[in-house]
Amino acid sequence: MRSLLKAGKATCILGSQFGDEGKGKFVDLLAQDADLVCRVQGGNNAGHTIWVSGRKVVTHLLPSGVLHPQCEVAIGAGVVVDPLVLRDEILRLKEQGFDLAPERVHIDFRATAILPAHKAQDLKREFERSQTGSAIGTTGRGIGPAYASRAQRDAPRLGECITGGFLENFANSGHPLADGLTPETITELIEALKFLRPYLKDVAMIVHNRLNDGARVMIEGAQGGLLDVSYGTYPYVTSSNLVSGSCAGGIGMPPTKITEIVGVAKAYSTRVGHGPFPGELSGALEESIRERGHEFGSTTGRSRRIGWLDLVALRYMSCVNGYTSLALMKSDVLCGLEHVGLVTAYKDKRTGQLMSGWPMTAQAWESIEPVVEFESGWERVIGVQNTLDKSLERFVQRIETTLGVPVTYVSTGAERLEGVWRNPV
Ligand code: GDP
Ligand code: IMO
Ligand code: MG
Repeated sequence: MRSLLKAGKATCILGSQFGDEGKGKFVDLLAQDADLVCRVQGGNNAGHTIWVSGRKVVTHLLPSGVLHPQCEVAIGAGVVVDPLVLRDEILRLKEQGFDLAPERVHIDFRATAILPAHKAQDLKREFERSQTGSAIGTTGRGIGPAYASRAQRDAPRLGECITGGFLENFANSGHPLADGLTPETITELIEALKFLRPYLKDVAMIVHNRLNDGARVMIEGAQGGLLDVSYGTYPYVTSSNLVSGSCAGGIGMPPTKITEIVGVAKAYSTRVGHGPFPGELSGALEESIRERGHEFGSTTGRSRRIGWLDLVALRYMSCVNGYTSLALMKSDVLCGLEHVGLVTAYKDKRTGQLMSGWPMTAQAWESIEPVVEFESGWERVIGVQNTLDKSLERFVQRIETTLGVPVTYVSTGAERLEGVWRNPV
């Protein structure tokens, strides 16, 4: 099988739907052969769950490569970091027995700090939106306000925050982001920042040096392409770019180093929060897929909405991201369904006409009706000699034909080793 990781090069592992595709599991699987795994955008709105021998590990900010002792991990300047959450995550993983020595964990000085004011603004803005029925359903972690204040050049970064006396002066400066910086919260933040101090580095240079030394580098995407602030279902998106083209910038790496771009998709779709969702299911079928797939958020515990796999969206995401291969996750969850649906086209609800292009405005999304076609379902995921069951294989081939991209890996369970590699190239 062709290796997805190459010496001196980087591989992006990106969500191709609305997040929660199983990126964490896939990154963990590949990380056994990786030297460095990087987070490049988002913050602790992400939640990546990994199961190894019956043991559950959840990461929000640290890259999922952290489970493998030979693998270094990095958080780039494009990430928004809540210092308290990152400190607690490092402590939690240490308690679980993982090595979190500062020698193998690198956090960029230039990552934006999420402050109490960002979290308060996020909740307040969501409440205001809910009054007019336009809430996004954010995770409430302060992600949008942190990116907004970075764009306005208001937000201090981790590097500024650790400078002696900075937070105390900032709190008294009358700055709008000083709201919520009370003596207690300042003390808490300073403690967390002191803890993080040995981890703070120039991550761009570390990545540069590692690549020059021939390291196999991975970029672990957070969220999924349909939540990208430019190319997703705006305004029901997150606040960062998630597409492959933005990954290099989030860590300070030349884009020419990225040679593989893997789109991760579930065999169906899920979405947390509000916004358009072609192919969304309801009733007993939605309930049963949610239960079987344990589709409850790793970050907020919210129920995930469930729908059929959307080939229109996946094809668009493939064009924008340039996937070189796909990983199809959670095929086991659909076992036992007589027929499995696929969204194959979008129609205009009012005219019934097939839409030829991608919906590019909020209004266009409102008028979408999906065309759903059905393929035979599968009773089991594995057929003969550890190959995929025939019906599942047909389903996978349909995805490949539609996108013109090989599905290299099919995941058949949550555990690290449950999955089938196919399509040797
Ligand atoms: P991420 O945000 O993309 O990393 O995905 P999450 O971790 O939020 O959600 C994916 C969930 O599906 C996690 O609970 C994984 O343990 C689980 N999972 C991943 N792959 C599979 C699979 O093939 N089958 C099943 N049943 N569960 C899976
Ligand atoms: P991972 O990395 C699923 C969603 C939120 C909300 C929207 C905006 O685990 O796949 P935000 O707090 O970012 O301003 O919320 O984006 N969202 C995610 N949904 N998985 C994620 O991350 C998500 N990160 C944000 O539910 O609809
Ligand atoms: Mg998740």
